[in-house]
Amino acid sequence: MDDKLKRLIIKLTHRFPEKEAAILPALAMIQKRNGHVSGNDMEEMARIMKIPEARVFSAASFYSMLSLKPVGKYHVQVCSNVVCSLLNGFSILDHLAGKIGIREGEVTRDGLFSISSVECLGSCGYAPAMLVNTEHYENMSIEKVDRVIDSIMKKEGRT
Ligand code: FES
Repeated sequence: MDDKLKRLIIKLTHRFPEKEAAILPALAMIQKRNGHVSGNDMEEMARIMKIPEARVFSAASFYSMLSLKPVGKYHVQVCSNVVCSLLNGFSILDHLAGKIGIREGEVTRDGLFSISSVECLGSCGYAPAMLVNTEHYENMSIEKVDRVIDSIMKKEGRT
């Protein structure tokens, strides 16, 4: 973590009456800067905020919007929680992996895509659900996965 980011996190910590309230904005700041939040970042963050590392790790691991390892330019997250699983969520995940050519947890060689299976995305009523970066997709089907990925490939000039 560079000095500028450390200063921003310290400044952020002073904005809140309880410094632990700054955990999520600080993690979001790290992710925006680095593309993911590493173990070293979390340790450093806990040290400069003077809070237990466990508080930072538990927050970072709970939110699917935060990536704890490097991800692709398009990070595709598929919900594997109960409702989505019952409505073909794993078929969506398998199809996606086959289409992109990587397994869950991997990044394509060109860094364009990565795939994760995640806990509830908050769209249980519209399951199965999928997230591509900050773009939320509901009522997913194999055909809809194809449309989403094909449109990204086209946008990136990969067709
Ligand atoms: S179980 Fe998949 S969005 Fe809630």
